[in-house]
Order: sequence, then structure tokens, then C-alpha cells
Amino acid sequence: MAKTIIVSNRLPVKISKTDNEYMLSTSEGGLATGLGSIYKQGDNKWIGWPGIEIDEKEDQDNVSAQLAKLSLEPVFLNQEEINQYYEGFSNDVLWPVFHYYVSTYSVYKQSNWDYYQAVNKKFAEAVLKIAEPGDVIWIHDYQLLLLPALIRKELPDVSIGFFQHIPFPSNELFRLIPWRKELLEGMLGADLIGFHTFDDVRHFLGAVTRVLPVNASANVLTVDERLVVAESFPMGIDNEKYASLPLQKGVLEQKALIKETFKNSKLILSIDRLDYSKGILQRLQAFEQLLQQHPEYCEKVTLYMIVVPSRDSVPQYAHLREEIDKRVGNINALYRKMDWTPIHYYYRSFPIEMLSALYSSADVCLVTPLRDGMNLVSKEYVASRVNDDGVLILSEMAGASKELIDAVIVNPNNSGEVCNAIIEAINMPLDEQKRRMKQMRQLVSKFNITHWVKVFMDKLKEVKQMQRSMQTR
Ligand code: F6P
Repeated sequence: MAKTIIVSNRLPVKISKTDNEYMLSTSEGGLATGLGSIYKQGDNKWIGWPGIEIDEKEDQDNVSAQLAKLSLEPVFLNQEEINQYYEGFSNDVLWPVFHYYVSTYSVYKQSNWDYYQAVNKKFAEAVLKIAEPGDVIWIHDYQLLLLPALIRKELPDVSIGFFQHIPFPSNELFRLIPWRKELLEGMLGADLIGFHTFDDVRHFLGAVTRVLPVNASANVLTVDERLVVAESFPMGIDNEKYASLPLQKGVLEQKALIKETFKNSKLILSIDRLDYSKGILQRLQAFEQLLQQHPEYCEKVTLYMIVVPSRDSVPQYAHLREEIDKRVGNINALYRKMDWTPIHYYYRSFPIEMLSALYSSADVCLVTPLRDGMNLVSKEYVASRVNDDGVLILSEMAGASKELIDAVIVNPNNSGEVCNAIIEAINMPLDEQKRRMKQMRQLVSKFNITHWVKVFMDKLKEVKQMQRSMQTR
């Protein structure tokens, strides 16, 4: 029977090593939840990297056996592969260019590219070990751009979907990458290529038709007489989970504690993975501007800022962390009062119950990435506002801003605008908060993660049918 194989750089589990034992814990991530309904069924599988280096054969066997029970199949990476494929090419070349973060001094190392190709081949081998002609293969994200074509070469008729979770840049940036042609050819091995927004689709089609001898008719490309469709599928969240958590006893208790702690000030929430694309320093600048230029708000607002550790072995990330530490330290040192600290800053991850308590307590959620494929934090905040109150301030550079149009939309580079948006948000009348939040909650609830998976899979089937009917003509 045909099966579905999900492939992503990282498996949807966290693996940690204590003494000599490898421990697995399941991931709360949106993708893991959304695809759970697929990969756990029948012979379906999820293939990916376990997230840590495991070199000994015996340890690999042990971890593989634990993963197999969860329908997960590991691709083990050694330290050099992690350095060059993951940190080097994926996160030091593709990530910055795709997020419009290009420096004149960018270095495109041949060895990073060599490892990127080699690891994509390693993933292809893992897929081809279990894939059969009638299967459906769904590949995720920029770390695996070459994989669709590698699989297509061996299994010409198999269904391949590819979804990119980060933005696709304008061709003027994309073409800077020395291996732009190979990257696009890799992606075009898929039958359906999905992005979060229509702009990403447009940029992708622009790049393909300029870089390759491929024709496009609207969003349909003809690649070696095979139809390939590029389309936008804005990703949703597990709305039910976020809407029901705030009613749980433990969450209500934490919420009461938060409300009591911050009873004298408006609470502004900020949650991100450590990343320069998230605009954390710019956000701090806008908050400082508020305290400096509008001293009447001192002691009346508190920024609760969570930065979740990520990729801190990549130099830019380590540097960014130091900068955030410094900036927060300075602001707190300058404005702090005996019984008020302007910024409560945490550099760690929090359990989902605490996140829910924060989402449902915060008067304002400040989401100001400089560039973001979608941004699920904004949707999690909306889903958690079960009383329809609260204000979302959202960057126009986040994919989510195309859907959450009732947020207060800002340009994250304009600190004056962000500062004014904070003032507007904390003074917004309740009826206006409710009017906006209700609209956004309806949208987040309807276009949830289950809907996203279904629409993508249905479209993939449709594209396959289109290809078949073309062949029989
Ligand atoms: O959404 C972009 C993305 O890179 C995903 O592919 C990944 O799962 C997530 O961010 C976290 O990144 P990383 O796996 O590098 O920690």
C-alpha cells in the first residue's frame, strides 16, 4: 500500500544524552502536531536528523530503535556535516540571503556547498531506502532544496511536495548565490512547491524564469514536459490546543500569579527564537524610545521578553545574544525603579503551559521581525485570547501580516512607528480590541494546521492528476 514519507532537516523529537543514555522527548512544535496525523499512521514515516551528533554505531542503533517505535527514521550527521551543511550553508548562506540579510562581505564557501550537496544526497539515500513508486513524499524547508530532484531522478513518477517555511527572496538577492541554478533545479524535482505567501511564490517564479530556461503560465511551470505548480499555503497552528490551554487549572494558576506580579503595569509580551531576522534589537530600541520620550509610561509598562536559545554555535547568533544582553542591561540600568523593572528578560525555553499563561495574560504582544516566513507566535497569541481582548502589534515583514490584518501593523525598522504602536495598543479601548481580536481569532481558528495539511495534500493529488491527464492527451 502507498505510504507518505515526511522529510525535514530535524526530526520532531528532542534527544538528550544523560550519562550514557539517549533520552527522547516529543516536540510541541506546530509542524510536529500538524503532521502527527500523517506520519504516525500505517507504514508512514518521518525522516530527519536527530539534532545531535551520535557517532558510535552502537548508539546509533540504540537511538534508531527508539525512533522506529515512533515511526521516525534518523539521518545521522557527523560534526563536519553539522558545521558545513547545517551551520555553514543552510544557516550562514541560505538563511541570511532568504531573509534579505546580505552583507557585501558575504562569503560563499565551496566546501559549505560541497557538504550541502553531500548531505542532501545522504537524505535522498535514506528516502530511497524506503520509498516506492506510488508513495507521497513531503519535503520541508531550505536545508533540503536539492532533495526533490535527487529523488525524482530515481523515482520519476513518485508524488513529491516541497514546502518552504522561510521567505523566498526577490531574484535580485537570490541570484547572488553562486549555486542558484542548482538550487532551483533541485526544488523543481517536486510536483508542488508551497510557500506561506503569494509574494514568496511570485519571487520564486521570477527567479525560476530568469535563471533557468523554464516557462511559466501563471503559477504553473513546465519542467522537462512535467507540470510543476508553485502556490501559497499560509501555515496555521493547532488552534484548539492554544484556545483550550488558558482554561486549564495549572495555566489559570500561573496566569493569576502573572496578573498579581504585574498588577501595576501593562504587560507587553515578546517571544522569539534567537535570530537576527526577528528584529529583537530594533524592538528594544523602540521600547527604550518609549521610556525616553514618554516618561509618563515608566512604571506603567513592562516588557516580558523571552528569547529561546538557537544556533548559538553560529558566530552571528552568539554575537546577537551578547548584544541583546548588553542592550537589556543598559535599559534596565537606566530606567529601573525600586519596585519596577522595565524588561523581564529570559534566555531559555518555557513549557507550553507557561507560554499559554503569558499569551493569555499579556495586554499586548509585540511581534516585529525584520523578515519572517509566517510567524506562528502571532497566531498563538491570537488563539490564546479567549476573551477577545488584547492587542497584537505585528511587523508588515511577517507572512502572518497578510492574514492578520486587524493587528496594529508596523514597519519594524521604524522605531518611532513601533513606539507609537505600543502607545496606541496600551490605550486601545476594549471594544476596539474585541472587534479586532474576534476577526483574527476566527481566521486563526478556521485556517488551522489541520486545514493547512489537508489543502497542501489535496493540491498535490490534483497536480498529479493534471500531469496524468496531460500524458494521456
Ligand atoms: O522555520 C524555519 C526553521 O529553520 C525550521 O526549518 C526549523 O525547524 C526551525 O526553523 C528551527 O531551526 P533549527 O532547526 O535550525 O533550530
